[in-house]
Amino acid sequence: MSTLGLLRNSRRVLTGLCGRPNTFFGINLVSVRSIIDLSYSTHFMDFKGSSIPSSMKKLVVTKLSQHFRDAVTLQTVPVPTPGDSDLLIRNRYVGINASDINYSAGRYDPTVKPPFDAGFEGIGEVVGLGLSASSRYTVGDKVAYFGDGAFAEYTVVPVKKALPVPAVKPEYLTLLVSGATAHVALQRLGDLAKGETVLVTAAAGGTGQFAVQFAKMAGCHVVGTCSSDEKAGFLKTIGCDRPINYKSEDLAATLRKEYPRGIDVVYESVGGSTFDSAVNNLAVKGRLIVIGFISGYQTATGLTPVKAGTLPAKLLQKSASVRGFFLPHFTADYRESLRSMMQLFAEGRLVCEVDAGDIDPEGRFVGLESVYRAVDYMYAGKNVGKVVVEVAPHVDSKL
Ligand SMILES: NC(=O)c1ccc[n+]([C@@H]2O[C@H](COP(=O)([O-])OP(=O)(O)OC[C@H]3O[C@@H](n4cnc5c(N)ncnc54)[C@H](OP(=O)(O)O)[C@@H]3O)[C@@H](O)[C@H]2O)c1
Repeated sequence: MSTLGLLRNSRRVLTGLCGRPNTFFGINLVSVRSIIDLSYSTHFMDFKGSSIPSSMKKLVVTKLSQHFRDAVTLQTVPVPTPGDSDLLIRNRYVGINASDINYSAGRYDPTVKPPFDAGFEGIGEVVGLGLSASSRYTVGDKVAYFGDGAFAEYTVVPVKKALPVPAVKPEYLTLLVSGATAHVALQRLGDLAKGETVLVTAAAGGTGQFAVQFAKMAGCHVVGTCSSDEKAGFLKTIGCDRPINYKSEDLAATLRKEYPRGIDVVYESVGGSTFDSAVNNLAVKGRLIVIGFISGYQTATGLTPVKAGTLPAKLLQKSASVRGFFLPHFTADYRESLRSMMQLFAEGRLVCEVDAGDIDPEGRFVGLESVYRAVDYMYAGKNVGKVVVEVAPHVDSKL
């Protein structure tokens, strides 16, 4: 393949993985402009004979803000038409991610100005498709995808971003971002060895639950942080050896006391003082993987201060390292990682815990309107497992 061909191909793969991850916190990734060919698509959609309405609801970022409710507006728009190599998917479930507010704050690509569509991942049925897309998919196929514009009743998804799934279950949705992040990060950057001690922060959440299980599968002793006894109980059920409820136990003191040799690998999602405690308790040759820093996302900068001044000395003293991980940089590993996790799930060896808000005082997250509540629920630290919103109940297509 020519250099140009390779370049085009790598761009396609990256957008295929994450929609519009052009930059993150101002760091340039790739610039993508999609060209949609509408010439054949109407042959494969039958608005009259099917249950596809002419208009739909979707969530649009209309103003940049880390406060999701201020940034995002629910709009009624025409149902989009798929291009030649696209699928039109009726979303049944969409996934909530901590970074939905980084996205609405414009931290992924500061050059993209509102309005733009919100939501990273969905699962549902194909209800329309373009001619080229019809060589691989047909109406009624069940698919999941990791791409932009998922917070909508219908989303146009390029075939290259779609993943066939055996059923439209929210459990499959948990794997697209949350599961894949834990799987690839630990495999590529963890260098896990049997008998090592692994600390997972935000361990009972969307991605934390998978990090716990994959570290356990690697034969490690797993410590997990969380904010309630209920979450600690859940962590025990998925193999966490030592859940730490940081609201009732001091994290730094507990690590110092119970793990005097230090922690070999940290899967760190919280930032701020949690990051500092993890650094201070690294073992010799320890590896801390920066997965996120959720404690800062609701601030204007998106960051929580850490004790960066002393970091080089602390790392040197222990020959330790801090490694960053961002899923869209690992396109080559993505599909294989999903295949492997789906196999583990099918064999009953992987728990994909879903939280659809059943304990929320206003009830289960059903309908796009409840995405706002679901984001608040996550940021209140209430979720056990992956937060999902049921967009619409199942509809039998007449196509
Ligand atoms: N690098 C990547 O490619 C990538 C991909 C996916 C996710 N992530 C990161 O992984 C982390 C978790 O994301 P997720 O979508 O899976 O969310 P999640 O873990 O399902 O939910 C967030 C959890 O974070 C914990 N938390 C700790 N301190 C918090 C604070 N100050 N404010 C709010 N929550 C706090 C809460 O649980 P407890 O307090 O009970 O522990 C809360 O339930 C985030 O940092 C996210 O950016 C990174």
